[in-house]
Amino acid sequence: LDVLPRPSPQRMALHVRPAAERALRLGHPWLYDASIRDQSREGRPGDLAVVFDRRDRFLAIGLYDPDSPIRVRVLQQGTPATISREWFRERIRRSAALRRPLEVDENTTAYRLVHGENDGLPGLVVDRYSESYVLKLDTAAWLAHLHDVVPALLTEYRPERLVLRFSRSAREALQRHGIDEGCILAGKGIEGPVTFMENGLRFAADLVHGQKTGFFLDQRENRAKVGALIAADTTLRRVLNVFAYTGAFSLYAARAGATRVVSLDVSEPALQSALANFDLNVQWPGVASARHEIAAGDAFELLGRFDEEDKRFDVVIVDPPALARSQADVPVAGRAYRRLAADATRLVRPDGLLVMSSCSSRVTANAFRRLVRQGSRSAGRSLHQLAQTGHPADHPITFPEGDYLKTIYARVT
Ligand SMILES: C[S@@+](CC[C@H](N)C(=O)[O-])C[C@H]1O[C@@H](n2cnc3c(N)ncnc32)[C@H](O)[C@@H]1O
Repeated sequence: LDVLPRPSPQRMALHVRPAAERALRLGHPWLYDASIRDQSREGRPGDLAVVFDRRDRFLAIGLYDPDSPIRVRVLQQGTPATISREWFRERIRRSAALRRPLEVDENTTAYRLVHGENDGLPGLVVDRYSESYVLKLDTAAWLAHLHDVVPALLTEYRPERLVLRFSRSAREALQRHGIDEGCILAGKGIEGPVTFMENGLRFAADLVHGQKTGFFLDQRENRAKVGALIAADTTLRRVLNVFAYTGAFSLYAARAGATRVVSLDVSEPALQSALANFDLNVQWPGVASARHEIAAGDAFELLGRFDEEDKRFDVVIVDPPALARSQADVPVAGRAYRRLAADATRLVRPDGLLVMSSCSSRVTANAFRRLVRQGSRSAGRSLHQLAQTGHPADHPITFPEGDYLKTIYARVT
């Protein structure tokens, strides 16, 4: 922590355009650079910016980031606040309260403790993996506040270690400060993957190099639902897990009784971890007896090849990465979702199950449902939707952009 910058002791004052004023009053956590009418001085990452309305009344206080189009991430709106270690501690305590039910479940030891904007700490995520914790930053603006945030976290949770990760958008700015991704902010060093439990299954995650903070914690409830559907229907035995990462859906499927499971992903290291995760769970009869295969390569290519080879499955799970990262990507992402839905439904035997997710917040739940339907129709198949799910409780939603994950469950005829 000693090498980290400190915030300027002086706050900066900003005045904003009317539309931004309205959005802030409604609780939106972002102020874009284009919405700023004037500012009292140039700011550095992490300076505290106080936003005023046209009549110079307090609107919000937040973290300034000159390197991001999201120029201010709002910490508090409506009433002025002193942003201090105690203030951060209060926010962390508040988000901890929401996770109490998960805390008492000894079969699940990994979950999200702080979900950024949606827990009032915009651009800051904390994930727990048993006694190891990962702090992930979307913006270098947080660096200057880690002097307060880290002690607040340590007081609340007492982790064995706290690992620092950056999101892609902040990586360059953070590296400019000479901070290495994966460095340990507190506690013991880290050697290799860390093991944890999710609904009774054991997983190992690479908290330093793995995607996200090492695991896709947001899909926990969907994995459990897929397991329950397979356990309840003995005709669902052959499962294809597309975009499998480290095989989490595959393991739930195998434990529930699937006899043949294929994990497909472009990342060879992720698939090797999937094999290792199967080895960690051989005490489950289903996992020990299932035939698990990995298929490394591009999903768009491999799904077509599987069809040519006449491969068919009872269940196909499709969980692609965010295909629309900005508004401009939406049309391309739409075509990609349609194509994936078409290629995936072709591989589902009649009356089999399709489970398809989108984690692009720019593609709404309604738009996604439409795209999946259009895709399957173009493959000559119809969908009978069984369910559509959203976020688990440890990934709350408080603003439109925070609503990213949706999953469709449908029988394919
Ligand atoms: C959202 S994650 C999947 C998470 C996984 N379902 C789980 O529960 O852990 C998306 C995955 O897609 C993989 N991926 C990205 N592009 C791909 C492509 N073109 N073909 C196959 N896999 C791809 C990434 O390596 C990543 O593992």
